[in-house]
Amino acid sequence: MIIGVPKEIKNNENRVGATPAGVNELVRNGHTVYVQATAGEGSGFADEDYVRAGATILPSIEEVYGIAEMIIKVKEPIESEYNLIKEDQLLFTYFHFASYEPLTHAMIERKAVCLAYETVERPDRSLPLLVPMSEVAGRMSIQEGAKYLEKPLKGRGILLGGVPGVQPAKVLVLGGGVVGTNAAKMAAGMGADVTILDTNLARLRYLDDVLPANVKTQMSNGYVIRELVQTHDLIIGAVLIPGAKAPHLITRDMLATMKPGTVLVDVAVDQGGCIETCKPTTHENPTYIIDDVVHYCVANMPGAVPYTSTQALTNATLPYAVQLANKGWKQACADSNELKLGLNVVNGKVVYKGVAEAFNLDYTPVESVL
Ligand SMILES: NC(=O)c1ccc[n+]([C@@H]2O[C@H](COP(=O)([O-])OP(=O)(O)OC[C@H]3O[C@@H](n4cnc5c(N)ncnc54)[C@H](O)[C@@H]3O)[C@@H](O)[C@H]2O)c1
Repeated sequence: MIIGVPKEIKNNENRVGATPAGVNELVRNGHTVYVQATAGEGSGFADEDYVRAGATILPSIEEVYGIAEMIIKVKEPIESEYNLIKEDQLLFTYFHFASYEPLTHAMIERKAVCLAYETVERPDRSLPLLVPMSEVAGRMSIQEGAKYLEKPLKGRGILLGGVPGVQPAKVLVLGGGVVGTNAAKMAAGMGADVTILDTNLARLRYLDDVLPANVKTQMSNGYVIRELVQTHDLIIGAVLIPGAKAPHLITRDMLATMKPGTVLVDVAVDQGGCIETCKPTTHENPTYIIDDVVHYCVANMPGAVPYTSTQALTNATLPYAVQLANKGWKQACADSNELKLGLNVVNGKVVYKGVAEAFNLDYTPVESVL
């Protein structure tokens, strides 16, 4: 198969859809890979690295889209890319269709085959191509939180791990899923006093087993949260209710009960946030302050660490990309229910129910396009 890896052109996106190692794997499977010049630069990969891995470099995005049967990228295509997409071309990338109607219509019109990272789903209902980014964001939330606890950045001026003779900072993690567990692990490793809350008792049992002794687990409820926010220095929002807006576990009135300089990192901001006063921010301007409480609410946290994020993402996407290239999308999706669930729009038909429902469009069962 002829595979194309374009450079991401969305504002501030430095990740890339395939690493040189990934390209090499595809080439060893007998495929031809074209990479747009400087596509990997933001993630630390030079054109020469891709050439050594067996790719051919093309100077323009038009040439990459023009030649490829399958495009592997990271973010959804943006307006300027729509017209480059050809009928029957397979696009393997994040789409998040339900959040942007014009993209859905454009992909229907282009008659492309859109296989979305975010809906590839394992039998246990986990989302293997979202997990790596949650791991990155969870770990990063503590790094950022520790930074904004510093006095010059308007935090309490407390060192996360304390020092001998001085108590460490107290970290509260709301939600014990992928983000929350990674956050708790990092905070614990830095020596903080960590409490992690979840509503799922089985999950709390598991966390109690695997996390170190400086992480305590507690059942999440409104009463407990109201008590704990008064004594904690860094609070991480990491809840998710699949398919729904995040619940506001921290309400506006609670800010006044927190210590001045408390830092809130609401990782769940991309689902509306679990802190009422949270509104999306960017890496250029990541924080704002309300009632002396620092809010960090960057919606695309992994974008700040493209070197790590690209490798984490492509470690997860590559095995699927190889299946798609080796078998063609129809056979690969017929053989793998995980991949089949990734199909969202195929040759002008919406084959993912959630997307059809979001915009009141006709829904075609995915089986009928295989
Ligand atoms: N900002 C970013 O850059 C970024 C990056 C990755 C993920 N995210 C977001 O982070 C959020 C968490 O993702 P995840 O992968 O950890 O999800 P997950 O499904 O693995 O975990 C969510 C956890 O929240 C728990 N939960 C639900 N309601 C709760 C409540 N009332 N109190 C306490 N816990 C509750 C669930 O039981 C579950 O364990 C999502 O909104 C995701 O989109 C944001």
